[in-house]
Amino acid sequence: MTSHHLLLLPGDGIGPEVAGEVEKLVQWFSNRGLARFEIEKDLVGGAAYDEHGVALADDALNRALAADAVLFGAVGGPKWNDVPYNQRPEAGLLRLRKDLGLFANLRPAICYPALAEASALKREYVDGLNLVIVRELTGGVYFGEPKEIVTLENGEKRAVDTQIYTTHEIERIARVAFELARQRRGKVASSEKRNVMKTGVLWHQVVNEVHKDYQDVALEHILADNCGMQLVRNPKQFDVIVTDNLFGDLLSDVAAMLTGSLGMLPSASLGAEDPATGKRRALYEPVHGSAPDIAGQGLANPLAMIGSFAMALRYSFDLGQEADLVEKAVANVLAAGIRTKDIAAPGANTVSTSDMGDAVIRELETLIQ
Ligand code: NAD
Ligand code: IPM
Ligand code: MN
Repeated sequence: MTSHHLLLLPGDGIGPEVAGEVEKLVQWFSNRGLARFEIEKDLVGGAAYDEHGVALADDALNRALAADAVLFGAVGGPKWNDVPYNQRPEAGLLRLRKDLGLFANLRPAICYPALAEASALKREYVDGLNLVIVRELTGGVYFGEPKEIVTLENGEKRAVDTQIYTTHEIERIARVAFELARQRRGKVASSEKRNVMKTGVLWHQVVNEVHKDYQDVALEHILADNCGMQLVRNPKQFDVIVTDNLFGDLLSDVAAMLTGSLGMLPSASLGAEDPATGKRRALYEPVHGSAPDIAGQGLANPLAMIGSFAMALRYSFDLGQEADLVEKAVANVLAAGIRTKDIAAPGANTVSTSDMGDAVIRELETLIQ
C-alpha cells in the first residue's frame, strides 16, 4: 500500500487543538489498514516566530514542498500583534500559498440537515444547501505591489494596497470553477466589481472567454456586494461561485454562517496539475482562524479540520470512498445530536473538541463493520 507523506502544521490558538483530532483520524486509518500515512510536524505562524523569529522557516517550507499534502490548522493571535509586519503569523500562511503555487481554494459550504437549526438563517433557506466558493488564492490585493505605508511631505501617511490580476490568473481559476460545476449542478456565478474596478472588468471578460469551452455550464455574473446579499437572501440559488482573493475571503465567512458555524467549513488549496505526474501541490485547512477567544478551553469545533482532511483524501490521494466515509461519519454524529458549543442550541448539552473527534472515530468504526 502506498504511504502518503503528510506535513502537519498545527499553528496557533485552536490550530493545535483541531489538528490533534486529525492526527487521531490519520492514526485510525493506518490502524485499520485503510490507508497509510507518514506524518511529519512543523511550526508555522506565531509558534514559528517564537522559535525561529520568522512565521515560516525555510526548512518548514521545504518540507511542505516535498510533502504529498500539507494539513494546516490556523495561525495568529493577540500575542503577536506587535511583531514586524512581514513576520506576523498570517505571513507564514501567505508564503505557503504563494510558494506552493496554491492558486485554487475550494471552500464548500454544506448545511447538514441536523444543523439547519444552528444556522443564522431560517431552516427553509439553508436545509439542503450545498455550494462551493472557488477563491483565487495567490493573486489580487493580497500580493499586488506596491503594498506599503509611506509618510508624505506634510507628515500625513498614505497606505497602498494594489489589486492586480492577469489574464492567465483569471483563466486558470475560471477553468477550475467550470470543471467543478460540471461534476455538480452545472452552474457558475462569477463575482467581481466591474462597476468600479479594472480588475473586475478583466475578470468578467476572461471568464466569458473561458466559458466558450464550457457551454454546457450555465454562467451568471454577479457583483460582489450583491453576491454577499444573495448568499443571505437565497443561498440555495448557488452551485459554484468563482471570485477573487479578497471577495472569496469575505464571502466564505458569510457562507460559513449558513452551515451553522465557521467551525464547519473546510477548504482545499490546490496548485496546477503537473503534466508529467498528474499530481498537484495541495494544502488543506479549515476556513476559520485561531479563535483566540476560545483557545485552550477544548471548545473548538474540529469538524472543519476533519472535513479538510476528508478533502485531502479525495483530492490528493484519490481516496474518494474514504473521504465519503469520513463525511458520512460526521453527518451521523451530527444527526445523533452530538454538538460542540458553537453549533449547539442555547442550554443544550455540548461536548469538547476531543470528544467530538472521538465521536467521529466511533462512528467510523460502526460504518466499516
Ligand atoms: P476566527 O476565525 O479565528 O474566529 C472568528 C469567530 O469564530 C470567533 O468567535 C471564534 O471563536 C469562532 N470560531 C472560529 N473557529 C471556530 C471553531 N473551530 N469552533 C468554534 N468556534 C470557532 O477569526 P478572528 O477572530 O477574526 O481571527 C483570529 C486570528 O486568526 C487572527 O490573527 C486572524 O488573522 C487569524 N486567522 C487565521 C486564519 C488561518 O490561519 N487560516 C483564518 C482566519 C483568521
Ligand atoms: C483565510 C484567512 C487568511 C486570508 C488570513 C489568515 C491570511 O482569513 O484563510 O480565510 O485572509 O486568506
Ligand atoms: Mn478568512
